[in-house]
Amino acid sequence: MKIPESIIEGAEVLAGAPVADEIKREVKEEVARLAREHGVRPCLVVVRVGEDPASAVYVNSKVRTSEELGLHSEHHALPSETTEAELLELIAGLNARDDVDGILVQLPLPHAIDEARVLEAIDPSKDVDGFHPMNVGRLSLGQNVIAPCTPAGIVELLERSQVELSGARACIVGRSHIVGKPLAQLLLQRDATVTICHSRTRDLAGVTREADILVAAIGRAGFIRGEHIKPGATVIDVGINRVTDEAAARELFGDEADKRLETIARRGATIVGDVHPAEARRVAGKLTPVPGGVGLLTVAMLMKNTVAAAKRRRGL
Ligand code: GUN
Repeated sequence: MKIPESIIEGAEVLAGAPVADEIKREVKEEVARLAREHGVRPCLVVVRVGEDPASAVYVNSKVRTSEELGLHSEHHALPSETTEAELLELIAGLNARDDVDGILVQLPLPHAIDEARVLEAIDPSKDVDGFHPMNVGRLSLGQNVIAPCTPAGIVELLERSQVELSGARACIVGRSHIVGKPLAQLLLQRDATVTICHSRTRDLAGVTREADILVAAIGRAGFIRGEHIKPGATVIDVGINRVTDEAAARELFGDEADKRLETIARRGATIVGDVHPAEARRVAGKLTPVPGGVGLLTVAMLMKNTVAAAKRRRGL
């Protein structure tokens, strides 16, 4: 395939911030309208169990963004010794409260707690993550449903960046319940030809190189190399990995490593996606950065989902 002129200088950066800001602006307007016309203020409750530092950062960002947009939010930070029964009791209470529109239990949970049981306990109409089996089933039937935030954010980013989905070949590397599988459903609904790859896929590069849209959601720093990417493809990097080693950062970022080395010196680590940035920049047509890409959209979509849940549950 001929490499398009526009990418000879390197891939176009598909930044998350402009699209996330646009979605948040829309949500803020809708929140103001609901208050004005219906006297309703949607309420999101975020529950976190244990001391995972990454989860604490994500949860704080969710709570802060809710406040910024005028949503009401409540944050329950429970100790790591919390039992499954105690968590289920909290959820039952939140299900019963009429003022609560959205319930999000941050994953992963401590090993002693059965994640599936907890997710199933959330009232499907308040499930702003779209993880309840009822909502997973509805999504796979193509019904209008609250879809998981990260996949929904990826679709918003692609659509609002004028990336053609209908008829496109999309390849998702990673088959998680949070990203890979629901994203496959959303892209299929938009008439893409979807392939899901995983750790047992044979000739991975042979499969991924067919893709016009390549999504990496595997949780391994820099795993997707230049050889995996069709020249000119749109590459979406969902990975959030901590790299602490300077030599590894140099290898990943090439002549743009200086800022990353500074970050490692200052904070002990830099955040790297699942895509090898220096190699992907040379081959891809469009590429989401890490940080500053898909992660910002996840939070924006949670806000959008919470408002949608509030409207639906209250019949507005
Ligand atoms: N942990 C990582 N991503 C997510 C997410 O989208 N929702 C929840 N609840 N937990 C997560």
